[in-house]
Amino acid sequence: MNKKWWKESVVYQVYWRSFYDTDGDGYGDLEGVIEKLDYIKELGVDIIWLNPCYESPDFDNGYDISDYYGIMDKAGDMATWERLLNEVHKRGMKLIMDLVVNHTSNQHPWFVESSSSKDNPKRDWYIWKDPKNGKEPNNWRSYFTPSVWEYDQKTDQYYMHSFAVEQPDLNWENVEVRKAIYDMMHFWLKKGIDGFRLDVINLLAKLKGFPDVENPMNINYLGNNEGIHDYLQEMHQEVFRHYDIMTVGEIPFVTPEDGLLYVGEDRDELHTLFHFEVADDMPRWDMKRFKEIQTRWYEGLNGKGTNSQFLNNHDHTRQVTRYGNDNEYRVESAKLLATMIHTLPGIPYIYQGEEIGMTGVRFDSIEDYKDIAMKNKYKEEVEKGRDPQEVFESLLMLTRDNSRTPIQWDDSPQAGFTTGTPWINVNPNYKEINVKQALSDPKSVFYYYKKLIELRKNNELMIYGNYKDLSFDEESLYVYTRSHEGKIWLVILNHANHKSEFILPEQFNDHEKALIISNYEDVREQDSLKKVILRPHEARIYQF
Ligand code: NOJ
Repeated sequence: MNKKWWKESVVYQVYWRSFYDTDGDGYGDLEGVIEKLDYIKELGVDIIWLNPCYESPDFDNGYDISDYYGIMDKAGDMATWERLLNEVHKRGMKLIMDLVVNHTSNQHPWFVESSSSKDNPKRDWYIWKDPKNGKEPNNWRSYFTPSVWEYDQKTDQYYMHSFAVEQPDLNWENVEVRKAIYDMMHFWLKKGIDGFRLDVINLLAKLKGFPDVENPMNINYLGNNEGIHDYLQEMHQEVFRHYDIMTVGEIPFVTPEDGLLYVGEDRDELHTLFHFEVADDMPRWDMKRFKEIQTRWYEGLNGKGTNSQFLNNHDHTRQVTRYGNDNEYRVESAKLLATMIHTLPGIPYIYQGEEIGMTGVRFDSIEDYKDIAMKNKYKEEVEKGRDPQEVFESLLMLTRDNSRTPIQWDDSPQAGFTTGTPWINVNPNYKEINVKQALSDPKSVFYYYKKLIELRKNNELMIYGNYKDLSFDEESLYVYTRSHEGKIWLVILNHANHKSEFILPEQFNDHEKALIISNYEDVREQDSLKKVILRPHEARIYQF
């Protein structure tokens, strides 16, 4: 496999509105990111992925862009953004921007024009259809609403939105749209950014003919449609190939076979992708399923394309709550999950706060929640006549606000995030879980992450090594090897709230071993590994 800097990188995701507020308006801001860059640098990461900060009415926290060339007030201004880029580079890190080109805001001037009349020159920049028998053009569901179609009385047509009503989908069949997007991408790349995280990039091409579907609830018909690879190859040709950048596509509903079409090294489309077989489709920890997913993706991409590894982001409940133990074994569990993500094949991503083991949250009332996906779903279900409290309860585990609460910097009011009123409440556990505490404790989750990242810098095996699962059917143990140029690492994870017995596979019996890292302090290198009772959430790596 070709060596590339982006394959060797660790990415840290900054959800700036919840990162650090410097002006007291309750929202994190770009100035706040600048102030805390040394903290990020201390961790040792290489790349910062910055969530959207373009002009936006903010119905979907910046994923509804009304001006691709401006910075939204809450975040700051262009001068601050430029300073941020410069400061990131000064510290030897890179910056990738989150970009949304499947849809815009309904307040984007393009859409305002497009919706003004049927014969407006920009009418065709979005997807407009006549009513069918006085109703929606088809039965497609959107991510956030019961239909992808919104009726426009003035012109008696519907427009398509894969997400909220406020997020109309662009018509990628229109050449002018594509040209406008490519020009805008050049604008940012010429400013010197190091790449893009491309929001739902596999949704650009729509299912031909817009037919009714058999099962509208399974919305996978929204993505991976015929024509998508033509768009991405054109995007690469027109834009990406001119720069030394990293591109990561957000690609729901994708199998490894199809994934390779997006990231195959001979394809000239994207560098890497986020697939969602775990984050979207595995609601709770499921060991066998997780192993099966890892093996299938490894075999599918090995030597041909690069995967990404993550268990949470701004759309998914924090990993230690959802997939680990956020209680008695929070610290051990956070370290175990980190060990796994940083040693599985693919680029590791850290979502802000993960490095101190932040947890999901439970607020008392729907009023405390801000997530448009949750709010819309709540409304939809209550309007059907369901009991509001029951609906509320059912949405708590997976609401996106679980991961959007402010970074807990210290144990002062509002966790030191803001001097004002935060846009979303801080997690009440900030007195115990915060950055200040983590930095003062050599055994903290933070320093464990730091060590893992450092290991990656010094061990190509973590990047280019072969992967093999040795634990197949085990429910609690996940044991695998990474091997490269004569070295083998054995990763041993007891992903359970109880003890588990580990027996060293025979192939290692007569080999000398070295302990690389472990999440329990008392493990000694010389201790026999032949038969070990692993403690809850114990993780170890040995080199043979
Ligand atoms: C994926 C983003 O990560 C999510 O936050 C957003 O709501 C949708 N795409 C729509 O842009």
